[in-house]
Amino acid sequence: VSLTEHNTLGFVSKAEWFAAPTTVDECKAVLAEAQQRSLSITVLGGGSNVILAPFVPGLVIVPSMTTVRYDEGAQDTVRVYAEAGVDWPALVVETAEHGLWGIENLALIPGRCGAAPVQNIGAYGVELADVIDAIHVLHFDGTETVIPAREAAFGYRDSIFKHALAGRCLITAIELIVHRQAEPKLAYGDLAARVTLPCTPAEVAAAVSAVRREKLPDPRKLGNAGSFFKNPVIARAHAERLLEQHASMPHFTVSDTEVKVPAAWLIDQCGFKGCTYGTVGVHDRQALVLVNRGGGDATALMALAERIRQQVEARFGIVLEPEPRQIG
Ligand code: EPU
Repeated sequence: VSLTEHNTLGFVSKAEWFAAPTTVDECKAVLAEAQQRSLSITVLGGGSNVILAPFVPGLVIVPSMTTVRYDEGAQDTVRVYAEAGVDWPALVVETAEHGLWGIENLALIPGRCGAAPVQNIGAYGVELADVIDAIHVLHFDGTETVIPAREAAFGYRDSIFKHALAGRCLITAIELIVHRQAEPKLAYGDLAARVTLPCTPAEVAAAVSAVRREKLPDPRKLGNAGSFFKNPVIARAHAERLLEQHASMPHFTVSDTEVKVPAAWLIDQCGFKGCTYGTVGVHDRQALVLVNRGGGDATALMALAERIRQQVEARFGIVLEPEPRQIG
């Protein structure tokens, strides 16, 4: 089965076996069959944070349950229950249009709800960890659990689903807590300048979407997987040495001893922005986004990533870590 339509890089890829279950019971049945036949299992969401090899052995499952439920909570809160197959940016639009605050800054992030907790999606000063309350999980052995958010080890682009639970379970649904009371978060970048107060969550979502459209390529037009590297956290002393030579280096305090540096700036300084290497390249408006210029594949992309990684390390002594997951 072709996975080409299931990854935003648009790489040509095939799964040995494929299933898109639309109920939790169907998920259980497919998992049981895979276990019985000793197939390896890969869970895929919207394919917006993966680098697919041309062939993925075993079974690829795309959970495709799409129920969304809103339950009134205490005070001004509303609990949003969204199944794994729900399109994330569509959920953001829907909650914002209902006048609910909490996820409007996460507008236009491609992908599905089930994948959102895995890398703890984040943008414009908000991350999923700020609003998620629980994650419904179906383990590959068929048992179901509900993991409270505080037990999900959320960090910067990180969670338990990348560690202890990696390759062991499938997320079936997420529960978010959103608010009726206005709480715009406009501190990041020029967001405040783009929104007039008082504002609605839909207006904030529209402003965030506009910023994203200016910087990030639309995967339907130019294959990409968003930021390709995480923003590195380095020792403060290291940052101070670099600032002596590069006074304009953007940097953000993480703790007394650590500083975060934008990977985009490091890559930009090495002259990669807008480059093309055969079938792949670097986006011309955001150096952190690697793109498929047409006919690209995982090998070509990883070669470019390695070239970038080496130059950034040679020049700044910083080792960049890829963000998307490699599969197959
Ligand atoms: N910069 C450059 N050159 C560029 C782009 C940016 O020098 O080509 C510098 C600018 O000085 C800018 C700084 O890098 O101030 C940071 O750039 P930006 O604000 O665009 O954000 P980012 O750090 O590159 C992160 C996330 C994005 C998220 C934005 C907005 C990571 C790995 N990436 O990018 O997330 O949308 O902040 O919050 O943390 C993703 O994960 O796929 C993603 C797109």
